[in-house]
Amino acid sequence: MIAEMDADSVAGYFRSKSILITGSTGFLGKVLVEKILRVQPDVKKLFLLIRAPDVESAKLRIQTEVTGREIFRVLKENHGAGFDNFIEEKICPSVGNIMKENFGLDNSQLKEFSKDIDIIINGAATTNFFERYDVAFDTNVLGAKHVCAFAKNCPKLKMLLHVSTAYVAGEKEGLISEKPFLMGETLRVGTYLDIESELNLINKTKRELIANRSTDKVVRKAMKELGLKRARHFGWANTYVFTKAMGEMLLEHLHEGCPMVIIRPSIITSTLKDPFPGWMEGIRTIDIVIAGYAKQTMSFFLADLDLIMDVIPGDMVVSAMMVAMVAHSKDQQAHIIYHVTSSHHNPATYAILADSGHRYFFDNPPCTGRNGERVRLKKMRFFRTTASLRLYMAINYKLPLEMLHLVNITLCGVFSRRCSEYNRKYRFLTLLIELYAPYVLFKGRFDDNNLERLRMVRNKDQNNNEACWFDFDPRSIKWDDYFYNVLIPGVLKYMQTELHSTSQNSNDVARL
Ligand SMILES: NC(=O)c1ccc[n+]([C@@H]2O[C@H](COP(=O)([O-])OP(=O)(O)OC[C@H]3O[C@@H](n4cnc5c(N)ncnc54)[C@H](OP(=O)(O)O)[C@@H]3O)[C@@H](O)[C@H]2O)c1
Repeated sequence: MIAEMDADSVAGYFRSKSILITGSTGFLGKVLVEKILRVQPDVKKLFLLIRAPDVESAKLRIQTEVTGREIFRVLKENHGAGFDNFIEEKICPSVGNIMKENFGLDNSQLKEFSKDIDIIINGAATTNFFERYDVAFDTNVLGAKHVCAFAKNCPKLKMLLHVSTAYVAGEKEGLISEKPFLMGETLRVGTYLDIESELNLINKTKRELIANRSTDKVVRKAMKELGLKRARHFGWANTYVFTKAMGEMLLEHLHEGCPMVIIRPSIITSTLKDPFPGWMEGIRTIDIVIAGYAKQTMSFFLADLDLIMDVIPGDMVVSAMMVAMVAHSKDQQAHIIYHVTSSHHNPATYAILADSGHRYFFDNPPCTGRNGERVRLKKMRFFRTTASLRLYMAINYKLPLEMLHLVNITLCGVFSRRCSEYNRKYRFLTLLIELYAPYVLFKGRFDDNNLERLRMVRNKDQNNNEACWFDFDPRSIKWDDYFYNVLIPGVLKYMQTELHSTSQNSNDVARL
């Protein structure tokens, strides 16, 4: 039975607590760190685990990649000249890597580090769909195991919160429940997943590649392909969701004696209103289509406009995380999964996004003309099936590419550079479609009954204290308004201010 909570009691819980956060340099991590510091300035310490060679470099990363970002604007205004001292007092940079046992700390460092920790929030992950299998395994599978082992060494620990993803469920249809994974469970009938064997396979494949003197490029490609092959063998769409599912399995298996909450958000999008609307970082998932349309480099994509896309703003995810931690903080046996999703209680179809996008760009044409002038756009074209999209691409892109290739051969390679550039772009688009198809053609809906129960015990804010507002009810979102006034302008602003290079773009592309 969970006790009723209001905003003050949620924020109050974090007073004098020491919290270890992994993944703070990531998108969600920043929203979380900012929120905790803003709603509970009397938090004792936030230990931010950062990959860095030494504490000074970790500190610098925090200054530039976390507290220096625009999401901290409101907190900065609140503290004025005292902001830097406040950050110095509250944030403790901690060098560590979740891929390594004990995060790479020696025994004395570990003892010193673990003795004060009350709460651990594990948000670190590789979120690249097409990650190398070894990297994804070390981060999302062994990383979860290392965090759990560390948690068990923290004498004061009250809560371990692990961030997973709703898409560990695979390509299911209908209502998908907040059900834990059993060890060895897969999504394909007739297969059994032995996590130890997967690690052995990775190590064996790497040993063979090294014995054959393969270049780094060959190893990278082989490891990426191995991840995708193993994921598909067991029924998952990509290496990311496959390894996240294995991470959950290990946590389920190992967490005994350590209260644990797993949250599974769907696609996390820009903040709805807290600390201000529209903050986001990284161009990923639906942002790619918005950015591509704005730059006029993408005029078509795969999406069945009648299907529901499950997106949830980052500030709602963080609010749900904080309320869930408080709700289970007194239960040493806590063990629960929360879908932090929107499709069940406030479904948004792709049609709403497409319509909002067209309205937005027709009202605010982007400056993509020859001389940087505003241009009037054509409507984006959506294909409902991969087969119809492939046919379109074959006729409109692959065929002309083949012809260019022939002309190039006839003219002794005059167009070689152009040929390989177009080829690269074509392959990239094909990969993008392949990786995104399971999401944009997803027919499931995430049941968030556990989260609904949390919404019911959380008293509505009687004191209407906006600074302590924990809203995670997707029913409060008006999707067309959110897409038109928040999400799309947020993506465009991010593109203008932070997206400097195309390589950044392609790095972000395959993430969720
Ligand atoms: N974004 C979404 O739409 C979405 C949806 C559902 C679930 N999630 C989950 O939410 C969490 C946060 O996602 P995000 O989008 O904020 O991710 P993100 O922006 O890609 O950031 C990932 C974070 O993990 C850290 N990290 C990666 N490997 C690490 C390692 N070996 N040791 C320590 N830290 C490491 C990164 O640190 P560096 O800066 O050092 O690389 C970074 O801070 C993840 O668990 C993800 O699976 C995300």
